[in-house]
Amino acid sequence: MMLFLRMTDVDLGGKRVLIRADLNVPQDSDGNITDDSRIRASLPGIRLALDAGAAVMVTSHLGRPKEGEFRSIDSLAPIAERLNQLLGKEIALKSDWIDGVAVDPGQVVLLENCRVNKGEKGDDETLARKMARLCDVYVNDAFGTAHRAHASTHGVARFAPIACAGPLMAAEIDALSRALREPARPLIAIVAGSKVSTKLTILGALADKVDQLIVGGAIANTFLLAKGWKVGKSIVEPDLVSEARKIMDTIASRGGNVPLPVDVVCATSVNEQAEATIRKVDEVADDDMILDFGPVSATRLAGLMTEAGTIVWNGPLGVFEIDQFGEGTKVLANAIAGSRGFSIAGGGDTIAAISKYGVSDKIDYISTAGGAFLEFLEGRTLPAIEILERRASEPALR
Ligand code: 3PG
Repeated sequence: MMLFLRMTDVDLGGKRVLIRADLNVPQDSDGNITDDSRIRASLPGIRLALDAGAAVMVTSHLGRPKEGEFRSIDSLAPIAERLNQLLGKEIALKSDWIDGVAVDPGQVVLLENCRVNKGEKGDDETLARKMARLCDVYVNDAFGTAHRAHASTHGVARFAPIACAGPLMAAEIDALSRALREPARPLIAIVAGSKVSTKLTILGALADKVDQLIVGGAIANTFLLAKGWKVGKSIVEPDLVSEARKIMDTIASRGGNVPLPVDVVCATSVNEQAEATIRKVDEVADDDMILDFGPVSATRLAGLMTEAGTIVWNGPLGVFEIDQFGEGTKVLANAIAGSRGFSIAGGGDTIAAISKYGVSDKIDYISTAGGAFLEFLEGRTLPAIEILERRASEPALR
């Protein structure tokens, strides 16, 4: 059980409250917001402070700007405008805020891109102390950035008089802890993506915990190769075959398994016009690329979802953006949606698949995070959470 102070337990009335949110949303080339989910997910924290009569300051990073060089494309201006619409309240946008912010109770000020401040990424102590001086209460509601030990996510929490978790941060930690720390069994994880190498530590960590580890996407190809199947021209990492074997052995030694596909969807090119052919795994031809799980395999996975106590989902099974390679992911998405088990999903591709198949409201928890979600699955300590836990029992540093 993670112990940290929650914003809902802090008296915010008349206080100066600094909320670190993750408003790092995708934008098109004209700066228009293409998905405002993270802004919407940050509203409850802002409303909580406003309703309590606090003077509210909100900051976030946007993109990966160079420190000390503010360019107009790094500005939170489009986010201020969206917040304004969603809250129905005038939101002032303030630049050069680090030495002081004028804000009254009942008001919200958005503080420009905090990643432009010199020292932010290095978790600079002087910068963190200045940020802490702006407020009576520091709220970290940016789970999406919890894997970064930056001045606005970590350092400030050491020095602020009170440091607590906002409602989004708390909900993310609660959902992930429920899935991974005290899961209802069987616990099934789906880890998919184009490379075993980028997900190796996650696969290793999950092999010690889960009852079934479903590997999908090109990751499955390396596991198929490890089992002696031919994968033709599929994306595969032959160097990692021994790692794949180790993962299968670890989970087997605990009585679990890695259910590999028995049939696959192949094509000789990856585009909208490509012809999809269903093959048994022993029939994959030399010029084939494996681009999805076949129908028999997808149905088997769906059966596992029915039995699951907990499901953790990261990554689509196939190239779901192209319909003829999306059936496996569609069957899986619907099965997770219909499962009685507690389901949690995260990662950009996964969320895109969930919305393509219209099951968003049937997944128990959808994380707003990408990298932080993956690091939590790896079992890593996320610095922004660790400091909140420490502050639950330690006073602020002077
Ligand atoms: C994300 O989009 O995953 C978070 O906002 C963190 O962004 P970063 O990877 O640039 O730190």
